[in-house]
Amino acid sequence: MRTTVGIIGAGPAGLLLARLLHVAGIDSVVLESRDRAYVERRQRAGILEQGTADVLRAAGAGERMDREGMRHDGIELRFDRRRHRVDFPALTGGRSVMVYAQTEVCKDLIALQLRDGGPLLFEAEALAVEDADTDTPRVRFRHEDREDVLECDYVVGCDGFWGVARKAVPAGLTQVFERTYPFGWLGILADVPPSHDELVYARHDRGFALLSMRSPSVSRLYLQVPDGTDAAEWSDEDIWDELERRFETADDWRLERGPITQKSVTPMRSYVHEPMRHGRLFLAGDAAHIVPPTGAKGLNLAVGDVVTFARALTHQKETGSPELLDAYSDTCLRRVWQAERFSYDMTTLLHTAPGATGFENRLQLARLERIASSRAAGTDLAEGYTGLPFGGR
Ligand code: FAD
Ligand code: DHB
Repeated sequence: MRTTVGIIGAGPAGLLLARLLHVAGIDSVVLESRDRAYVERRQRAGILEQGTADVLRAAGAGERMDREGMRHDGIELRFDRRRHRVDFPALTGGRSVMVYAQTEVCKDLIALQLRDGGPLLFEAEALAVEDADTDTPRVRFRHEDREDVLECDYVVGCDGFWGVARKAVPAGLTQVFERTYPFGWLGILADVPPSHDELVYARHDRGFALLSMRSPSVSRLYLQVPDGTDAAEWSDEDIWDELERRFETADDWRLERGPITQKSVTPMRSYVHEPMRHGRLFLAGDAAHIVPPTGAKGLNLAVGDVVTFARALTHQKETGSPELLDAYSDTCLRRVWQAERFSYDMTTLLHTAPGATGFENRLQLARLERIASSRAAGTDLAEGYTGLPFGGR
């Protein structure tokens, strides 16, 4: 099998890349180790930056998002039983975000790819990327119990944190920057209308809580839990009781309860692999970097990477110049590090670290107070949340 761009992974990064390349008239093949139903059901991100929504529209994948997604003009910060709204358009000159689940983005992109794109093979597991530093890189993969080889001009590893692409970069050329956090998130889906019309990020001495949503009738909620927690340890009633405590306000706001349809625990880490390119192998999305989910940045970063790659390859095709491909890693990493900083700040602002001192707790409240009372501090949060420009600076 032969193609111009071999794409490993059909998460948001790989699927969007295949679409962008198709629009640019460049052929690709996508290899995905899981089956279609699994990819379409995996509950993860919920928030699209304005720039991400614009890219999906321009790629012809924004129609259902614009019909069913919910535009949000702010979030609420909750601390000390108080509520503070961060007004995005007022602080950023008109920017907002879109609440539209990753599952739906993937469904839309899969349908487009199967309708008019190149091959998208499910249950096709990449085993290794070979000859990345030559002009003829190859992906060895297994599909329908057979081993096969995909010969490519370029390989893009969009295979997430646990994928194989990153392993093809020699250790001696690699630098890894990493931090793990001593807590995770217990996430639930519940059949109950969201108790607030915008997302609520709550800091509480017992830990962080987040109220989000999937639709006007489905809530998505998260609770900070100790590292290593098993979701089965938490009964539905315990989850609602704990959410109620952490979201408590001094006014008459109430948390509505409903049947919980899914629960799972996500660990939290920050991770950056440098460089994001080795020869003709390019890494994109979670394959190259992870952020803790507090800033809602992971999917948006993945989109920034593949937009940068598609632009660079199109530039090479049109002008013959490899300058943008050569700049790929540096261009992406500028934006990645800004997102790492933002996600770290949001995480340390809102979570209670085990063993945190009274001094540290007071500092968190002072930082929140500052965001609530200073336009400059509020603007910094709003700009970070609604998204940094693609391209880095
Ligand atoms: P992935 O989605 O991980 O896709 C990688 C794909 O590669 C998978 O389909 C996998 O099956 C496949 N694969 C792996 N190995 C192989 C192989 N060897 N061969 C073939 N295929 C392979 N981000 C946001 O922007 N906003 C949010 O609100 C947000 N909330 C989140 C909440 C939670 C609870 C979690 C866990 C994450 C959240 N994120 C959020 C992060 C976001 O989900 C990820 O950053 C995003 O999925 C990254 O996309 P990706 O395509 O790079 O990787
Ligand atoms: C969601 C996830 C996040 O990490 C976040 O910051 C906001 C919303 C969500 O899944 O809806």
